[in-house]
Amino acid sequence: MVTTREKILITGASSGLGEGMARAFAAQGRALALCARRLDRLEALAAELRDSAAQVAVAQLDVTDFDSVPVVFGKLRDELGGLDRVIVNAGLGKGAPIGTGKARANLETVQTNLAGALAQAEAALEIFREQGYGHLVLISSVSANRGLPKAQAAYSASKAGVTALGQALQAEFAGKPIAVTIIEPGYIETDINRGVKTRLMTKTDDGVAAMVAAIEAEKEYAAVPRWPWEPLAAAMRHLPGSVSRRMV
Ligand SMILES: NC(=O)c1ccc[n+]([C@@H]2O[C@H](COP(=O)([O-])OP(=O)(O)OC[C@H]3O[C@@H](n4cnc5c(N)ncnc54)[C@H](OP(=O)(O)O)[C@@H]3O)[C@@H](O)[C@H]2O)c1
Repeated sequence: MVTTREKILITGASSGLGEGMARAFAAQGRALALCARRLDRLEALAAELRDSAAQVAVAQLDVTDFDSVPVVFGKLRDELGGLDRVIVNAGLGKGAPIGTGKARANLETVQTNLAGALAQAEAALEIFREQGYGHLVLISSVSANRGLPKAQAAYSASKAGVTALGQALQAEFAGKPIAVTIIEPGYIETDINRGVKTRLMTKTDDGVAAMVAAIEAEKEYAAVPRWPWEPLAAAMRHLPGSVSRRMV
């Protein structure tokens, strides 16, 4: 049964999709806990949302500072008096062809997107296990469905890891009161893909609306927006490499 999740923690809420989801849930009067590294942006957003949201708590968090993730989540849980939903959204799109002397960018991407997501899942599930309920949402990417070449190699590998982590948790919590949703966005206009030129780019508001609808429905999996990304994600998963290589 899907119940209204009133108390929602969102990481990476200082811009793009995280900020958009915060706005959407605030407009519905939910209580929010927002984190990211840029505290000034979170505070400005919180000041704007406090009129409509039931409550807005903010905290500075670098998800690659693994020890601080459970501390910050615990503090925000205490401020809100529990957490019904945690959206693991913080992510980076840095990258360079592997073996070209830019290992740092690729390692930072995997550290943030995959190890950081794991640290967030650990902290969220500790809270959910203790409460006996909760909804974990992992923001992966359509690129999880097929390793992508060059500058996107480490990014797609990190997101394949996020999707696999979500599937593992769905198997573990099947039939239990802890729900796990995997969201794979296609191209949605945000800072992460500024400068990317493609006809497949979705406007931020439309992309956020599709994400929020899939999250509220507590789907196990959604590629968003559904058109064209659900069929494209399936094609990326199933087409032979000789064909899919010509699509990217
Ligand atoms: N937009 C797309 O087309 C698209 C497609 C597929 C997947 N996604 C995924 O959607 C998520 C949100 O991305 P976006 O498109 O909204 O990009 P964005 O506007 O660049 O937002 C990224 C967010 O992640 C936060 N972040 C980055 N590194 C962090 C760290 N180490 N610790 C804490 N927060 C960190 C940033 O905040 P601070 O810099 O303030 O920390 C920012 O709020 C990411 O996981 C991304 O991979 C996006």
